Amino acid sequence: MKTIIEPFRIKMVEPLRLTTREEREAILRAAYFNPFRIPAEAVLIDLLTDSGTAAMSSEQWAGMLRGDESYAGAKSWYRFEAVMKELTGMPHVLPTHQGRASERILFELLGGPGKVVPSNSHFDTTRANIEHSGAEAVDLLCEEGKKPRLRRPFKGNMDVARLEELIQKVGPQRIPVVMMTVTNNTGGGQPVSLENLRAVRQVCDRYGIPLFLDACRFAENAYFIKLREPGQHQRSVRQIVRDMFDLADGATISAKKDGLVNIGGVLLMRDDQLAQRANNLLILTEGFMTYGGLAGRDLEAMAQGFLEVLDEDYLHYRIRSVEYLGEGLLHAGIRIVEPPGGHAVYIDAADFCEHLPPDQFPGQALVCALYRHAGIRSVEIGSVMFGRIDPSTGRMEHPPMQLVRLAVPRRVYTQSHIDYVIEAAAEVYADRYSIRGLRMIEAPPVLRHFTARFEEI
Ligand code: F0G
Repeated sequence: MKTIIEPFRIKMVEPLRLTTREEREAILRAAYFNPFRIPAEAVLIDLLTDSGTAAMSSEQWAGMLRGDESYAGAKSWYRFEAVMKELTGMPHVLPTHQGRASERILFELLGGPGKVVPSNSHFDTTRANIEHSGAEAVDLLCEEGKKPRLRRPFKGNMDVARLEELIQKVGPQRIPVVMMTVTNNTGGGQPVSLENLRAVRQVCDRYGIPLFLDACRFAENAYFIKLREPGQHQRSVRQIVRDMFDLADGATISAKKDGLVNIGGVLLMRDDQLAQRANNLLILTEGFMTYGGLAGRDLEAMAQGFLEVLDEDYLHYRIRSVEYLGEGLLHAGIRIVEPPGGHAVYIDAADFCEHLPPDQFPGQALVCALYRHAGIRSVEIGSVMFGRIDPSTGRMEHPPMQLVRLAVPRRVYTQSHIDYVIEAAAEVYADRYSIRGLRMIEAPPVLRHFTARFEEI
């Protein structure tokens, strides 16, 4: 059957407010053409992020009521720790309030001036935390991953030969850890194969370098492995997840993605001494090591969420509904990163707004056009997020792709919501040459996409 069945029914609803085009025009201007400045109430379909936006299940809400709020050694902590140990096999489980808190602790311990941290592609907060420590973050995405229209099963893979070259060039003592982001968010939500993880592991072993996963979307990655990697089809997602973690020495996780919660994170590691030092930092800035800046009820919701996300009917619905969005856009003639990712579809904004040069931020202009036309909020992943001014020449440097990400929150929208998005995007596409470019009038030096202000040209 063709209909994508959501494997859940709705028990509680949250009304959406419809706005007029005139209202949205005024809101867009007041927000200086930055979607992060738009009040959520004025958004109809919010595809800004899949992070912290999931709908929790009745079992998770029941867990919230059972949450044990003891300061130390709460029952909820022991449940959470047991689930994480069983799923990942990692002996040290540190709770944090979200992914970047795990990153901050890890790179305060492993980063620092002179250090180099390679990845398939670092997410922006990971890169920012590495650079904040004084270290250098290097992306080593495979060549296939850089070709948006090339359909390959594992475009999130790392270029293993370039990893080895880098290690030989800078010396293994300067590389404290290799990171692998699964799935690869900045590279189009594309998965990493077990084969690639094994190859990276072998190189790490040869030079004595630890391997960490940025495992925010570990279940979606494992499901892609089951669907696409030879020999994996008969295996359970749970077994594949365990294989992924078995290849790593540790992981940072934002539970706001595949943890199916609205807040929470984890730092996992095998090394006893490193864990001891990480715990000291955790206590310093997050909280005692059995709650890490979270409430007991958050730990309950996470424990339950990390189990529910492995349900293969859920994962089928999840991956298929994002793919359906991608197919709809392609059918309308819109170019996207192919194949669609696990959590999002990435529109090729350079092609969509081919009349706009990168200096006029075609991705941001498209984000504004989608909001203006239909109240859909998305996010630019292009020159606003990753462009920078070269300090020596004063000229703007652009990343290789100008993308707009439509990230799909988990268990929140139905197929008719997605049909609405497809229809709206097709209408905007039909009138695309009317989209005006933008000028950046104010921006902070780092993570500028969150707060930058723009005006229309
Ligand atoms: N790593 C990856 C791959 C991510 O996608 C994110 C967050 C983080 C780390 C940081 O986690 O937000 O809990 O601190 N990504 C969100 C997004 C914000 O919209 O893609 P966090």
